[in-house]
Amino acid sequence: QAFFKPIQNTAPPSPTKRHTKIAVVGVGNVGMAIAQTILTQDLADELALIDAKPDKLRGEMLDLQHAAAFLPRTKISASVDYSVAAGSDLCIVTAGARQIAGESRLNLLQRNVALFRIIVPALARHAPDSMLLIVSNPVDVLTYVAWKLSGFPSNRVVGAGTNLDSSRFRFLIADHLDVNAQDVQAYIVGEHGDSSVALWSSISVGGVPILSFLEKQQIAYEKETLEKIHKEVVDCAYEVISLKGYTSWAIGYSVASLARTLLRDQRRIHPVSVLARGFFGIEGGDVFLSLPAQLGRGGVMGVTNVHMTDEEAERLRGSARAILEVQGQLDL
Ligand code: NAI
Ligand code: 2OP
Repeated sequence: QAFFKPIQNTAPPSPTKRHTKIAVVGVGNVGMAIAQTILTQDLADELALIDAKPDKLRGEMLDLQHAAAFLPRTKISASVDYSVAAGSDLCIVTAGARQIAGESRLNLLQRNVALFRIIVPALARHAPDSMLLIVSNPVDVLTYVAWKLSGFPSNRVVGAGTNLDSSRFRFLIADHLDVNAQDVQAYIVGEHGDSSVALWSSISVGGVPILSFLEKQQIAYEKETLEKIHKEVVDCAYEVISLKGYTSWAIGYSVASLARTLLRDQRRIHPVSVLARGFFGIEGGDVFLSLPAQLGRGGVMGVTNVHMTDEEAERLRGSARAILEVQGQLDL
C-alpha cells in the first residue's frame, strides 16, 4: 500500500497494450548493452536480470533503475533465482565465457555448455511459453544445445547468429560506396564466426543489384576486393576484442532489433540462427546456423528463398559441416 496518494483516481487503470516481459541472463558487457538498448527503445514493460554474481547483479539493477526519470516506464527486477523470469515472453541468454584476444568462438564450447545445462532448463521451467534468444558463443552450437535442453519447438529457439556480421558487412559496403548502411541489403549466412558465408550475388543498394549491375556495365571488379571485405567482417570482432577486450554496443543494437521484431510481430527478415536441416541442401543432422528468416510473435515463421550461386550454397553447406563437426563432440 502506497503511503502517499498523489493522484485522485476517477477510474481504475486500464492496460492499453499487451504486457511484455523480457528476461536477460548474464549481466556482463553484452547483457547490459542489450538491457540498456531495450530500455531506451521502450521494448518491454518488465525487464528481469539474472546472473550468478549477486552483487554485480544488484549493482547493475540499481544503476538502471536510477535512470527511470529519463526512460520509458519499465519495471526492472533482478535475482540469482530464475523464478524472476516467470511470465517472460522472451528470454535472452548472454551468460558465459567470452574469448580472450586471438581465441576462436568455438573454443568456448565446453565451458558454456556446462552453464547452459543449468540456465536453459531453469528458464524452460519458469517461462515455459517464452521464446529463447541465444547470444553466448559459440552461438550456433549453443542455440542447438538450448533447443535440446529446453524441449521447446524449434520455432521458439533462435540464435543471434549473423545478424551482427550482416550489420558489419552492410557498414563496410556502405562505407566503401559512401551510402547509408540502411540502404544496403546484404546477408552474411552460415556460422557466426570463421566459416561464415557472404552472399555477394544477392547484394543490392537502393534496389540496384550490385554484381549484375557491374557485369552488365562490363565494369571489371576484383573478386579479391570482395573477399577482402568479407575477411574484414570475419576479422573485425577479433580486432575489437584485441583493442577493448570484448564487443558490446553493436550486439546490443542487433539483439534489441531482434527483440522488437519478435515481440511486436514485425515479421521482418533477419539473418539469424535457425534449425537449418533441409534448407539449401543442408544434410547430415540437426544444425542451427544463420539463414535469412522471417520472425514474428511466434518466433521463426520461415526461411526466405534467397538467391545463392552454386559456390555460395556449397560454402554454406561447408559451414554447416564445420558446426556439425563441433556438435559431434557433445553428449546431450
Ligand atoms: P562477461 O564476462 O562480461 O559476462 C558474462 C556474464 O555471465 C557475467 O556477468 C557472469 O557472471 C555471467 N555468468 C556466468 N555464469 C553464469 C551462470 N551460470 N548463470 C548466470 N550468469 C552467469 O562476457 P560478455 O562480454 O558479456 O560476453 C558474454 C557472451 O556473449 C560470450 O560468450 C561472448 O562470446 C558472447 N557474445 C556473442 C555475440 C554474438 O554476436 N552472438 C557478440 C558478443 C559477445
Ligand atoms: C562478436 O562477433 C565476439 O561473437 C562476438 O562480436
